[in-house]
Amino acid sequence: MKLIFVTWGLSALHAASAHYVFNKFIANGTINKDWKYIRQVSPFVNVTKPGGPQQKPLYDLTSSNIRCGRDAMTTGNGTEIATVIAGHEIGFRLDLWFPKSDSKTLQYNFTIPAGTPAGLYLLRVESIYPRIEFNSSQFFMNCAQIEVIGSSNPVSPPGPMTRFPGAYDDTDEGKLYV
Ligand SMILES: *[C@@H]1O[C@H](CO)[C@@H](O)[C@H](O)[C@H]1NC(C)=O
Ligand SMILES: *[C@@H]1O[C@H](CO)[C@@H](O)[C@H](O)[C@H]1NC(C)=O
Ligand SMILES: *[C@@H]1O[C@H](CO)[C@@H](O)[C@H](O)[C@H]1NC(C)=O
Ligand SMILES: *[C@@H]1O[C@H](CO)[C@@H](O)[C@H](O)[C@H]1NC(C)=O
Ligand SMILES: *[C@@H]1O[C@H](CO)[C@@H](O)[C@H](O)[C@H]1NC(C)=O
Repeated sequence: MKLIFVTWGLSALHAASAHYVFNKFIANGTINKDWKYIRQVSPFVNVTKPGGPQQKPLYDLTSSNIRCGRDAMTTGNGTEIATVIAGHEIGFRLDLWFPKSDSKTLQYNFTIPAGTPAGLYLLRVESIYPRIEFNSSQFFMNCAQIEVIGSSNPVSPPGPMTRFPGAYDDTDEGKLYV
């Protein structure tokens, strides 16, 4: 399975110590149920509560958890595969939780490039909160399971390629420390 990788900076939100999980996948303008197309992360509870343990950040860039979230390499079987059309918009919705105020919902949209070759992919979404102390930056990521269809002029192979763990490390200036 191939990987598409999207990163958003949510630093402004982090200023309020928000924790979150990208638990809803949007396709064809429909907001799907929690974890329907997104690999569930541990602890495996049915209800994703604001501020719950599923929303805790990851820190260890050498862990395989950095691929798709905590223990998500074991949950692919229980996750459905969303068919998405190349060139169409998809989205991720997250429930944000602020320790001292309300929870809030945000949605980030992204267009699957029209030239993405047809096939099965893990669509990885990530937000990084860089912190000044070494080895304390926070990582939030989840993966949707998708099958891309309807490509036009597919680029082969798709790229650039990278790997998780390994795409970046604790000494990458600007990303992981300031
Ligand atoms: C994302 O797309 C949805 C429709 O699927 C739309 O309602 C929403 O406003 C879009 N959000 C952003 C930030 O563009
Ligand atoms: C989730 O809900 C199902 C069906 O209601 C139940 O069988 C299962 O034990 C629940 N899982 C957890 C982790 O609570
Ligand atoms: C996924 O399901 C297949 C077939 O049901 C099974 O052989 C395989 O062990 C399962 N994998 C995991 C990681 O649960
Ligand atoms: C989106 O729409 C296409 C075309 O109708 C359909 O094949 C696909 O299954 C839909 N995907 C989802 C996740 O609803
Ligand atoms: C970073 O912190 C983790 C614990 O969160 C620790 O296991 C790891 O060894 C640390 N890495 C470095 C390079 O200090």
